[in-house]
Amino acid sequence: MIVQVPQVLSPEQVAHCRRTLEGAAWADGRITAGVQSARAKRNLQVPEDSAEARTLGEMILGALGRNETFVSAALPLRVFPPLFNRYDAGMGFGAHVDNAIRFAGGVRFRTDVSATLFLSGPEDYDGGELVIDDAYGEHAVKLAAGDMILYPAASLHRVETVTRGARWAAFFWAQSMVRDDGRRSLLYDMDRSIGQARAALSDDHPAVLGLTAGYHNLLRMWAET
Ligand code: NI
Repeated sequence: MIVQVPQVLSPEQVAHCRRTLEGAAWADGRITAGVQSARAKRNLQVPEDSAEARTLGEMILGALGRNETFVSAALPLRVFPPLFNRYDAGMGFGAHVDNAIRFAGGVRFRTDVSATLFLSGPEDYDGGELVIDDAYGEHAVKLAAGDMILYPAASLHRVETVTRGARWAAFFWAQSMVRDDGRRSLLYDMDRSIGQARAALSDDHPAVLGLTAGYHNLLRMWAET
């Protein structure tokens, strides 16, 4: 399931990220790549233990915790501290699958959901689309600054070469309480339908109660905590 999450950050928060990252010590992006992906990867990253990455990462984690779409779509158990990357003209990242297991703060976790939070607007660069492969074909994604895309970490994806300007983004992974993308997708659709039913009927309408019970009982059946 690919889900667009609009306005995770406000324009002021995006500007704050940009200003802070301008002073960061950018390094070769292959520092976090696996063996296969290192060959395909050409970009710059802020080292994950840098002060800038930690401070901005905290701000983004705070915004994610308050974002209903993110919580409903990802059902996060653990969220990897956000990292920051940059593709200048001539840079891109060929087709790859993200590492299945990552370590953060001494904790090992599985990557179920991949996320890219755009810190540049489409007007800032040409090329640079995130292209995600799923069962229905290829999806090219380029969003407004402050918007985020969620996609299955298991999917093959790439970043097209930037041909003008620069593309800045935050990226991270979440381990979900519900490992299976199909189940997660079903729960997300159900949660949205329940919201629509509540708006159209009432919170205590029997149909709303029944659907809500079904949602929670499926989550209880499938969740790992
Ligand atoms: Ni990737």
